[in-house]
Amino acid sequence: MLEMSMRIAVFASGRGSNLLAIHDAILSGNLQGVTLELAVCDRPDAPVVEHLNNRNIQSFIFRPADFKDKNAFESAIGEKLDQAKIDLVVLAGYMRLVGPVLLEQLEGRMINLHPSLLPSFPGKDAIGQAWRAKVNETGVTVHFVDEGMDTGQIYLQQKVKVNADDTEESLSEKIHQVEHKLLPRAIQQLQQEM
Ligand code: GAR
Repeated sequence: MLEMSMRIAVFASGRGSNLLAIHDAILSGNLQGVTLELAVCDRPDAPVVEHLNNRNIQSFIFRPADFKDKNAFESAIGEKLDQAKIDLVVLAGYMRLVGPVLLEQLEGRMINLHPSLLPSFPGKDAIGQAWRAKVNETGVTVHFVDEGMDTGQIYLQQKVKVNADDTEESLSEKIHQVEHKLLPRAIQQLQQEM
């Protein structure tokens, strides 16, 4: 029988280290039956853009200000996703709330990565929020996307301990290390469930 691979798109707004971790996992065979067909970026000046060019990853890079409104740029993204026959969208540091156009098109087929143990510390600067709250444990969440801010159904979580000798920077580093493993693992698990 011919095995079909799961075609994914990854959205990023900044550094793109999680997008690269996914791409690396696919290239090294650690993430199987998955192809990265499209990257979407809403900031042409983001560091991730250079990586996309270097790695020849097909991408749609846009400036929201060039569109009338969110519906207009989400419709443009939606067309690209259709053209690339995307099965799953992965938000990996895409710093925008997804609107009704993409939510409807991708119902149940869009996940987000968030650097805290949701429902604790949703929104921006989750690592800083946890650090300032002096928790002794935080973590990483992969969840399905709904209309709320980091509110969708939780799919996978992993805890990260805050040690007495941690700084905000070392905690941040530990969280990113966990993210780079947990997100490819979540994608692999979804691929097996599909
Ligand atoms: C990651 O830590 C991700 O969890 C976070 O943005 C970072 C992106 O890093 N996302 C959110 O805070 C979403 N609410 P990256 O660009 O290096 O992958």
